[in-house]
Amino acid sequence: MSRIVVTGATGALGRLVVADLLERVPAGRITAVVRNEQKAADLAARGVAVRVADYDDPASLAGVFAQGDRVLLISGSEVGRRVPQHTAVIEAAQAAGVAQLAYTGILGGPEADFELATEHKVTEQAILDSGLPYTFLRNGWYHENYTAQLPVVLEHGAVVGSAGEGRIASAARADYAAAAAAVLTGEGHLNQVYELSGDTAWSLEEYAAEVAEQSGREVAYAALPADAHLDVLTGAGVPEPFAAILVDVDAAIARGRLAGSSGDLSRLIGRPTTPVAQAIASALA
Ligand SMILES: NC(=O)c1ccc[n+]([C@@H]2O[C@H](COP(=O)([O-])OP(=O)(O)OC[C@H]3O[C@@H](n4cnc5c(N)ncnc54)[C@H](OP(=O)(O)O)[C@@H]3O)[C@@H](O)[C@H]2O)c1
Repeated sequence: MSRIVVTGATGALGRLVVADLLERVPAGRITAVVRNEQKAADLAARGVAVRVADYDDPASLAGVFAQGDRVLLISGSEVGRRVPQHTAVIEAAQAAGVAQLAYTGILGGPEADFELATEHKVTEQAILDSGLPYTFLRNGWYHENYTAQLPVVLEHGAVVGSAGEGRIASAARADYAAAAAAVLTGEGHLNQVYELSGDTAWSLEEYAAEVAEQSGREVAYAALPADAHLDVLTGAGVPEPFAAILVDVDAAIARGRLAGSSGDLSRLIGRPTTPVAQAIASALA
């Protein structure tokens, strides 16, 4: 049986993908590609092969992949550096002749007209140009992007954003991880594009109301104009370039760019996606 190789395996999504794979295939089929071997000690203890490589160091990627591998490239976390990083992984996969290169892109793919999507679009094109059999996992937003902020939300009694009344079809990270595991272990996913998002879209106003109800606290949506939102984020210590990207995302949400719900995610995972109310409950607990 072919090996299944997951990059970014010690990240939040990568760990969930490996955990899901471990329930589907023997550990000996799974290889975790990580940049910090110590972070992967628990995976090695479970029988997962661990290879050390850095997206920034093409030489470190040589020999990581083998002919016939089914590979998941989890997009890097350093916005602005990801095109050369992903290109290095694609070139290593191409040199090896992998059987599948799955990639975690962004909802909408070439139609996503906001700054954060640019590197994903370039990466998808590079994968197409490589000629490798691909699977594009175009991920929408994680619930956790919002629930991770709950302590601050509860402290201030406000969900702050500049997304207007835009709706967000987010899903749990674990839902996206299950979809990745499904395409890496199942058949019929080569040269396929999946627009992955939650079954139900919600607005920040609805989100604030749900947090208020579940927490028993007063929480409301503070709908700000873009410049005021930028000030709040930079005032909270978010570096200006990244704060600008987040404000740009909210503008995209206001235009409906993250509201799409194709049903691809629930179809791939064989169950409804996790409701945002459930993610709020887990985070509050
Ligand atoms: N859909 C969404 O809502 C959303 C939200 C945030 C991010 N994303 C994207 O989805 C990806 C996965 O999300 P996540 O929550 O798992 O993010 P994450 O926890 O930050 O994981 C990113 C992974 O990429 C690895 N990585 C980063 N730079 C690397 C490099 N130079 N060489 C090798 N590995 C490198 C990290 O390694 P370490 O474990 O060593 O840090 C980590 O394993 C993110 O990287 C980002 O592209 C999507």
